[in-house]
Amino acid sequence: MKGAELKLRIGRFRMHRRLLIFAVIILASCGVFGYLPLMTQPVRAQQPETSPYVGDEEAIKEAEDLYIQICSHCHGMKGEGGIGTSLNDSRWVKVSTDKAIFGVIARGRKNTTMTPYLEALGEDMIWKMVVFMRKLQEGGA
Ligand code: HEC
Repeated sequence: MKGAELKLRIGRFRMHRRLLIFAVIILASCGVFGYLPLMTQPVRAQQPETSPYVGDEEAIKEAEDLYIQICSHCHGMKGEGGIGTSLNDSRWVKVSTDKAIFGVIARGRKNTTMTPYLEALGEDMIWKMVVFMRKLQEGGA
């Protein structure tokens, strides 16, 4: 009798343990898959087509200061290039939409030293930087 009771208990314990493991796996995969969309699409879905800071001199100055601090050692003080591509004569920048330039700064370029800046700068700052990129193009920086 005692032996049977013990077996039953062990059996229950095993079942509970299995359920527990199952639950942990489910929760863990929810976590991973829940984050997947964030990892593959780090930028918000509703993006403006053009920077909201066009013509905002204060915002452009702010972006310029930041550019000198964190971008110029690769792209040059006036966007003339160096380790990074030149930005003041980049045809890509010239023909690209604000949204596309935003995308490069936010997500970087894979397998190059151009790393993503979304986390470090945030969306607003990148939109300001986009307008500054245009100013570099005009040689006005
Ligand atoms: C460590 C060096 C490095 C730093 C720092 C860096 N970049 Fe870059 N950047 C690059 C390289 C290299 C490329 C070219 C990547 C490629 O081959 O497509 C690039 C490409 C770009 C482009 C696309 C230009 C084009 O014509 O294709 C833009 C725009 C740009 N960077 C902006 C920035 C801004 C803004 C910052 C600062 C927030 C920054 N970069 C910081 C190295 C850097």
